[in-house]
Amino acid sequence: MDAIAVRRDEQRPSVIDVPIPEADAGEALVRTLRVGVDGTDQEVLRGGHGEFPEGEDHLILGHEAVGVVEDPNGTRFEEGDVVVPTVRRPPNGTNAYFERGEAHMAPDGEYHERGIVGAHGFMAEYFTSPEEFLVEIPREQAALGFLIEPISITEKALEHAYASRSAFEWTPESAMVLGNGSLGLLTLAMLEHVHPYERTYCLGRRDRPDPTIDAIEALGSTYVDSRETPVNEVHEVHEGMDLIYEATGYARHAFETIEALAPNGVGALLGVPEPWEFEIDGGTLHEEFVLHNKALVGSVNSGVDHFRAASDTLAQLPEEFLDSLVTGVHTLDDLESAFADDDTTIKTAVELSAYEER
Ligand code: NAP
Ligand code: BGC
Ligand code: ZN
Repeated sequence: MDAIAVRRDEQRPSVIDVPIPEADAGEALVRTLRVGVDGTDQEVLRGGHGEFPEGEDHLILGHEAVGVVEDPNGTRFEEGDVVVPTVRRPPNGTNAYFERGEAHMAPDGEYHERGIVGAHGFMAEYFTSPEEFLVEIPREQAALGFLIEPISITEKALEHAYASRSAFEWTPESAMVLGNGSLGLLTLAMLEHVHPYERTYCLGRRDRPDPTIDAIEALGSTYVDSRETPVNEVHEVHEGMDLIYEATGYARHAFETIEALAPNGVGALLGVPEPWEFEIDGGTLHEEFVLHNKALVGSVNSGVDHFRAASDTLAQLPEEFLDSLVTGVHTLDDLESAFADDDTTIKTAVELSAYEER
């Protein structure tokens, strides 16, 4: 079967031929429909994040998949069920994080991530998965089911951010998303349509006309250009934010968020930057944290419950927004477009097979 992989010493994806995987006991065989591409895939291609499977010279890409159960192989699924796989797998048998369903909280070495860290991904015509890592979704979500994994990332991050504000009465009104990539825009749409924010903002570094700025404004949100208003001045130019969601991977934003938060606010950090040394005023930031009861939470990956919540969330996002977000669904003969990293591309997916309802 065809699969899309990055080979060692290469930085672009190639189509390779690999055998159709065989499902072990407890695993289902899934025919892949579509697999989304995000900033992490670009980082994996550039060699900035992730790891090849042990002893191998290529990594099959893709962690945002949706597929159809081809062979349930004795699992709870039926042929034709539409499913989305979670990303993490245990590296050597199971461990305590996986046993309690919290693989998303496992530290380095206690997980592989399919398509990212140490395990092949889902960008192949078929994949297998243990049934506990497959989440069934409604058939009408087959076309956009590749958005469930990224939405689940935000479900987890918001759960953790809100948990940090649960010891007192917190009634957030303002929220800012840092980053107008696909994760940032999906999150902005969630804050507008699923969460109760009265005012939302989204930070980028682009000139108009730009499709992400159009999407931000169509959502009813305010675009903030970081070249005019750096994050640590946002509270002076606009307002202190009750919630900040960092999705730029720009390391300074982690620290500038502390200043941009309103008293009692919380920042969720999602970006995965590479090493970068710079100066900060640690004393002022430390004081700001303490005297204004601020919190920062880091968050990575997501679990089965976050995937379920993400499917409900996807159903609540407006169709016009989703149409503007997904700028292309490409077959294997147009990988160039699927992995384009330019200003006209927001979210793309690779289509491995077409969905036909049985
Ligand atoms: P992406 O498409 O690369 O988006 C990043 C966006 O941030 C881009 O639109 C970029 O703008 C913008 N940006 C970068 N630096 C900026 C700056 N200084 N000022 C204003 N805007 C800036 O990536 P993504 O898929 O949306 O993901 C966002 C980040 O989250 C990545 O670092 C990714 O690795 C990470 N991530 C983490 C998790 C997790 O579990 N923690 C999950 C998914 C993704 P331009 O396009 O104009 O350069
Ligand atoms: C994926 C997560 C993964 C993270 C770090 C993200 O793009 O969506 O599942 O945990 O990258 O590798
Ligand atoms: Zn991702």
